[in-house]
Amino acid sequence: MCGIAGYTGERNAPKILFDMLKKLEYRGYDSAGVACFYEGKTIVSRGKGKVDEVRKRSKINDLDSKIGIAHTRWATHGEPSDENSHPHSDCTKQFTVCHNGIVENYKELREELTARGHKFLSQTDTEVIPHLIEEIYTGNFETAFVSAVKKLRGSFALVAIDSCSPDEILVARKESPLIIGIGIGENFIASDTPAVLSETKKVIILEDLEYGIIKKNSVSIKRLDTGLPLEKAVQDIKWDVKAAEKEGFDHYMLKEIFEEPAAVKNALKGLDDIKAAAKKLSKYGRIYIVACGTASYAGLVGKYVFERFGICAETVIASEFRYSTVNTTDKKCAVIAVSQSGETADTLASVKEAKNRGAYIVSVVNAVGSSLTRLADDNIYAYSGPEIAVASTKAYVGQATTLTLLALSEARELGKITEAYQNEILDDLHRMPDKINMVLNEREHIKKLALQLRDCKSFFYLGRRLNYPTALEGALKLKEISYVHAEAYPGGELKHGPLALLEKGVPVICVAPNDDLKEKMESNMQEARARKATIIRVAEDGELKVPVCDPILSPILYVVPLHLFAYYLSTGKGIDPDKPRNLAKSVTVE
Ligand code: F6R
Repeated sequence: MCGIAGYTGERNAPKILFDMLKKLEYRGYDSAGVACFYEGKTIVSRGKGKVDEVRKRSKINDLDSKIGIAHTRWATHGEPSDENSHPHSDCTKQFTVCHNGIVENYKELREELTARGHKFLSQTDTEVIPHLIEEIYTGNFETAFVSAVKKLRGSFALVAIDSCSPDEILVARKESPLIIGIGIGENFIASDTPAVLSETKKVIILEDLEYGIIKKNSVSIKRLDTGLPLEKAVQDIKWDVKAAEKEGFDHYMLKEIFEEPAAVKNALKGLDDIKAAAKKLSKYGRIYIVACGTASYAGLVGKYVFERFGICAETVIASEFRYSTVNTTDKKCAVIAVSQSGETADTLASVKEAKNRGAYIVSVVNAVGSSLTRLADDNIYAYSGPEIAVASTKAYVGQATTLTLLALSEARELGKITEAYQNEILDDLHRMPDKINMVLNEREHIKKLALQLRDCKSFFYLGRRLNYPTALEGALKLKEISYVHAEAYPGGELKHGPLALLEKGVPVICVAPNDDLKEKMESNMQEARARKATIIRVAEDGELKVPVCDPILSPILYVVPLHLFAYYLSTGKGIDPDKPRNLAKSVTVE
């Protein structure tokens, strides 16, 4: 949902800013821009297109500027166009701003400012911000910036510069992430840590309703409401720079699928925290698992594992939970919030609402220091490492593993399973990385199958119980990176409607583990075969082959060929799977 960058120091700002934008491009890539100070003026270069395209045609590269701000956009208000690209400036071009989030009251602000003679050049909500600063300014940038920010409703991460204060960048945050990377004689501002990792591992995380004055040798953070200075902790980020780079893979997505074995290993590292959370969870009568998209499918895996052990758990999509299910939460209930980024707006809003009603909140999260981790009572980190590709893959495997461990630990806590059984599953989970590697070694075969089916217009995915979420995840991945229609159903639902859509050659991908529902799944496949559909089984002896594993762990393994299948179908169609159209990685707006 838009990436923001800022730099102040002794090096070439345009170069550093474009490099940072490249690392933030997963947050949005329909347009980009940079603004830098040069010879007493703010020079802005921006336009429609991906970062590299904008960079190529930009004259700003030649400027010897040491300070500036930048943005890569995922359009909310106003189509992707040169005019709607950030940075945006006021009428006098003194103030320039980049923004991530949504200014909800921009229409009324724009009307007021227009009535006072301000001229707007874009359709964006953001453009009201520099004009507001201009309107309020009486000689002090910080005072005008803070007053302007206080007038905004909605969510924002902001970076702003003033050509009359050429040694500082002002930043502010409410509900959209922003971090400050601390260097020596230089400082960096970014929406996310991977953008600064190659320069520094020391970061300050800006919290909601804080603002900052960033200079090359100082960082000062204050509260927006009181103006009082804050002592902020500088955190050491442990992620390796390489972890946020492609390392010879054609795409981040492929690299991240190849990190799925490590995602299982790393999730196991959280076992102590998982057991501690399970102990607390066992005291709550009701458990909700709340998440969006792929994370919600991992949440569904969690629900089925809880249910397998006779524990009630309901998985609810966050955008629904926050407006309905939340009414049923109270202090007798626990909410497990699942999120890779820890910044998804609907998930955060659900958690805030449930917390206000007294619910216990535990997160299953990947991004350390994200907003969710600060809202939750307890955090369980998946430790999957930075995920850059827009389509989530290794994080799903990490989340599904973590939730399986959580359900297992709680079942043990409640005496619903024996220690011996728990250890048996744990042993099988320790063997899981090798099993995933066996699937990854089949990639050429999976690629061949994907290429054979490349021109099909519609796919169906079937799964039952624990692997219904596997089917949902397989279908979502195909939709988002291949732009092909795909639907997932629980096997038993086929004859209640969707069967009418099956005809000769329609691919039906059936997730068929070797469990007690195998025969039921076989009947569902027969129903599809009878309509001459093309059946592709994910099974021990399937067209998409998987090694033997305990059925309770099958969602973690069976999803791997589906991730590879979607990847190869996408690249086979000539699509860049790292940057699917209309999507962004971190959905920080509602
Ligand atoms: C799909 C995908 C999204 C995310 C969803 C939640 O591949 O990546 O559906 O899973 O936007 O994001 P997080 O996990 O960051 O809350």
